[in-house]
Amino acid sequence: MADTVMLIGFMGAGKTTVGQQLAQATDQKFLDLDDEFVKETKTSISDYMEANGESGFRTMETKILENRLQSPGVISTGGGIIESDINRKVIKDSEAKVIFLQADFDTVLQRLSSDTDRPLLRQLSMKELLDRFDFRQPLYDEVANSVIMTNDKTPNKIVKELTNMLSLPDDSLVSLRSEIDSLDRKILHLISQRVNVVKEVANVKKRNKISVVQQNRMDEIRLELKEEFANDINISANLIDDLVDLLTSAAIDKERKMIG
Ligand code: S3P
Repeated sequence: MADTVMLIGFMGAGKTTVGQQLAQATDQKFLDLDDEFVKETKTSISDYMEANGESGFRTMETKILENRLQSPGVISTGGGIIESDINRKVIKDSEAKVIFLQADFDTVLQRLSSDTDRPLLRQLSMKELLDRFDFRQPLYDEVANSVIMTNDKTPNKIVKELTNMLSLPDDSLVSLRSEIDSLDRKILHLISQRVNVVKEVANVKKRNKISVVQQNRMDEIRLELKEEFANDINISANLIDDLVDLLTSAAIDKERKMIG
């Protein structure tokens, strides 16, 4: 493992939680640059930003980064550290292995929904926050050596991916698999939402005494999907058949159980 592993990413990507657990799992020291900021300035980030503005905060953040960067172990950073050109240069010139913990905007919002501590969340409108998010993505990519997708994953799973990544000389496969794993979780969440709708359908069918299987509708849907995805070289007609078989048989089972 590299002497210093630095985690970057937007607020709510999991940098601190994952960083702590990664340090523990690999028996390394853990440093959170936001905590270091508070220790150094003896002020909360919110109060510091209120008194000195975001640009004052960024200037101080650079000093903390420069002083702590050589610290061996796992370092988690503030989400905006990559906004300044100087910070990006300092990070790129360092020996640290920089890992971008990437999360979709929806995931970030969900994770931060009850947060009252982060000053930018209080100050920015939703549109401004999304603009910030979009503005920062290429900057994280610019300084990162590797990317781990964190959507829908537990900290434990992310730490597993990270330790695997850190043990390999060429970690591009881990990054790609991390993306696939994240998509798999998204697909399962969508299937769970689909089952919720199926349950509502079952209730309507029960009320109106409609039979569970409507073969014509199912055949029509299959045809529609095949037509719509005919030009997508990744989606074959067989894949559509297999997927629709799977989804509809699960739905029919559920409806039969509910209708009796
Ligand atoms: C900030 C993120 C915060 C903290 C400060 C500014 C940002 O860190 O540094 O509130 O600009 O995104 P986290 O990413 O740990 O929340």
